Amino acid sequence: MPAYILGIESSCDDTSAAVLQNTQLLSNIIASQEVHAAFGGVVPELASRAHQQHIIPVINNALEQAGIKASDLSAVAFTRGPGLLGSLLVGTSFAKSFAWALGIPLIEVDHMQAHILAHFITSGKPDDQVPGFPFLCLTVSGGHTQIVQVNSHFEMFVLGRTIDDAAGEAFDKAAKIMGLPYPGGPLIDKYAKNGDATAFSFARPNISGLDFSFSGLKTSFLYFLRDQLIENPDFIEQNKADLSASIQKAIVDALMDKLMKAVKQTGIKTVAVAGGVSANSALRAAFLERQNQGVWKAFIPDFQFTTDNAAMIAVAGYFKFLKGDFASLDVTPYSRTT
Ligand code: KG4
Ligand code: ZN
Repeated sequence: MPAYILGIESSCDDTSAAVLQNTQLLSNIIASQEVHAAFGGVVPELASRAHQQHIIPVINNALEQAGIKASDLSAVAFTRGPGLLGSLLVGTSFAKSFAWALGIPLIEVDHMQAHILAHFITSGKPDDQVPGFPFLCLTVSGGHTQIVQVNSHFEMFVLGRTIDDAAGEAFDKAAKIMGLPYPGGPLIDKYAKNGDATAFSFARPNISGLDFSFSGLKTSFLYFLRDQLIENPDFIEQNKADLSASIQKAIVDALMDKLMKAVKQTGIKTVAVAGGVSANSALRAAFLERQNQGVWKAFIPDFQFTTDNAAMIAVAGYFKFLKGDFASLDVTPYSRTT
């Protein structure tokens, strides 16, 4: 008998619910919160309130689109952390009540593991491909930047991580410096398409091992623009495309350098990318370029599974469901992974 898993994601500013039949996607509904754009970043208090408003309609919608009733569900999986505590509490409380009312298992999911496990969501079409173990995953989002060695669905080791800003933060901060609204990552990607990535160069991070650092790059970008604006107040407007392409190249190069190093160190030649920044077209192109050169076999997620979504929570929940790894009703969310 197939399992029907409801996934609930509320760790940041997207309220999402998804239904999977085993690993196969039946629905994935995401309600984004527009309220934060005016503040240049996510306002935690407003995020929690918006989750409260969105969660019931989003879940109803996910069940309806999947063509099943709540009573058909086998388990409820939810994001336990890391994320904003107030936001996580909304999803956690709802998941507990729903699972309890339906008399079905409750499953807690780690958001970062779920970003990686998104690669195991299937569409039911014959060309579905999932990575084989072990593989390396570059997990790049607004809050995290990690290279993870994935030995099995739940045996994962972080080989390197950022010591300051995350890659998504680097995109968003560079965009903010250019006067673009939050989140600026997708806008930099858009403007970069018409720009010359070699037009400007900025300080390259020089960090040993497999760790990352993006704060020096941000400062270099800030000081460069400050100096240029003294000479020409319209510098940003006149060079938006070249600036976007150049800063994007600096971030992508830093990510690829360390990933290549990790491949060399571990000898693992199956690589995946996950998290919001994996929507970036230059990063996706760099992954494919190295695949075409025979450096590795690349797994790049569908756009709908790059940024925060509940389908990835549901698939992680499914693998825990198979193991009988259930949470108790007194489980509490965590804001950080220790
Ligand atoms: O995984 P995610 O949705 O949320 C977190 O868990 O953080 O990632 C959001 C991040 C933001 O920093 C956003 O600017 C970035 O992903 N992002 C992008 C692109 N799409 C989203 N950055 C660069 N290029 C994109 N196309
Ligand atoms: Zn995320």
